[in-house]
Amino acid sequence: MNVLILSIVLLLSFNIFSGLDFKYPYTVPTLPYEYKSLEPYIDEQTMKLHHDAHHKTYVDNLNAVLVDNKKLQAKDLEWLLRNLNTIEDTQTQTTIKNNGGGHWNHSFFWKIMAPDCQKLSNKKLMKEIKKQFGSFDKFKDQFNAAAKKVFGSGWAWLCVDQNKKLVIITTPNQESPISQGLEPILGLDVWEHAYYLKYQNKRIDYISSFWHVINWRQVEMNYSFAIK
Ligand SMILES: [Fe+2]
Repeated sequence: MNVLILSIVLLLSFNIFSGLDFKYPYTVPTLPYEYKSLEPYIDEQTMKLHHDAHHKTYVDNLNAVLVDNKKLQAKDLEWLLRNLNTIEDTQTQTTIKNNGGGHWNHSFFWKIMAPDCQKLSNKKLMKEIKKQFGSFDKFKDQFNAAAKKVFGSGWAWLCVDQNKKLVIITTPNQESPISQGLEPILGLDVWEHAYYLKYQNKRIDYISSFWHVINWRQVEMNYSFAIK
């Protein structure tokens, strides 16, 4: 019984990613830990700037483009990102892709990091990683290589595709995998604003540090949700 209740609570907590908390007017979600909690891997100043300024700008721009658009206000953010092509006005479509994507991606990103991370323990996910990439270390190498190769600003992702297979992809700027019909379970922001204060031009050092702060419990929940 307790396991059942726990499962329900976990699935409800996951709903932040299924659209329920993404309604107009949008707000920046509170960080689930303190700004300094990810030290020494991600520094406090970067977290403050990244969350309070950069993420807020995406939210402000998203609200601004929707302020006089009752029809799109009624849609949740996931619907907008999954149906970008149905938004006829191209300027509105681009603004939602950039800023709605920025809001969704960052809300996702804060949750898949945590200060007291354990290792991946979900056997099904580990089995799939080994099946798809050969081993966990090979998966890590491929993810890191993808993140390193992003030209300019963008993201690296581990996603579940339409066939429930794991795939590593990258997206430019703030494009979200959900706009491609994919379900991200892990993502890394490789915009310079995510690391430049501490790591300057050494993106690869930031990528290496990311592995120390991955919230595997959240990734496992994301995976369980994505394969249902
Ligand atoms: Fe960012």
